Amino acid sequence: MQTAPILLLRTAADLRQTIKVWRSQGHRVGLVPTMGALHAGHLGLGALARRTCQKVVFSIFVNPAQFAPHEDFDRYPRTEAADLAALAQAEAADVVFAPAAAEMYPPGFSTSVSVAGPATGLESDARPHFFGGVATVVTKLLLQALPDTAVFGEKDYQQLMVIRKVVEDLAIPVEIIGAPTARDHDGLALSSRNAYLTAPQRQIAVALNRVLRSVIADVLNGVALPEAIARGRADLIAAGFDAVDYLQIRNSATLEQPLSPGQPLRVLAAARLGAVRLIDNMAVAPASLQEP
Ligand code: PAF
Repeated sequence: MQTAPILLLRTAADLRQTIKVWRSQGHRVGLVPTMGALHAGHLGLGALARRTCQKVVFSIFVNPAQFAPHEDFDRYPRTEAADLAALAQAEAADVVFAPAAAEMYPPGFSTSVSVAGPATGLESDARPHFFGGVATVVTKLLLQALPDTAVFGEKDYQQLMVIRKVVEDLAIPVEIIGAPTARDHDGLALSSRNAYLTAPQRQIAVALNRVLRSVIADVLNGVALPEAIARGRADLIAAGFDAVDYLQIRNSATLEQPLSPGQPLRVLAAARLGAVRLIDNMAVAPASLQEP
């Protein structure tokens, strides 16, 4: 049971020193990388880390390298005091590592981690810069903390697959845990970016998950994948989305196009409501059809 208040650290040196002491006490360490604006989904990631680790670090860093110049880096919600309070109340973290940009990217920083394979297509089509930025910062965070486990949400399913690949390819000694997506009462996946939605957009947004489930139902009922996808895209537009960046069904382990029957599948989508871009994904499996 945690009794000490959360320690806020700004430098990798302080983080390493703290973790060194924990290690000398025999503790396992879990890392939950975030960009802050924490919601119940993030707290769930912390709870998952706590299952196997006595000490949990949340990193909070709005990573400039994963935003294109036209994206929402400047207006991304920054709520550090509220995040610390939520983590303390939920006893979800022992340490928050919230470095300044210069700590992560000091002057002259020249290295980036570039991933192919699962990073191909989907998010990369609309956000070609994204996975390079994510892979670079997550690699750095993993090397700074050297945790036993690191927990990421399945809501960013392609990101999770990309991080698994980085860890495998670079032989980083950490177990990556994927956490099921936390959802609102009506099925909308929790996201820090939901804060951008107006009330009318919030009503439309729920259709994203509803449509994913109708695509899954179609596939499980034998509808051919291209037809199920076409129906889903049309349903999203009919529900009020302004654009569908992608709605695709991929192999859930490799994210490759499913070319043969009988493989585990995942349906993934990104759609836009005005300037707000929402993503969601689910396993193509009967369990996904239960009411939210
Ligand atoms: O999912 C996020 O919040 C970010 O992409 C991550 C993994 C913290 C990297 O900045």
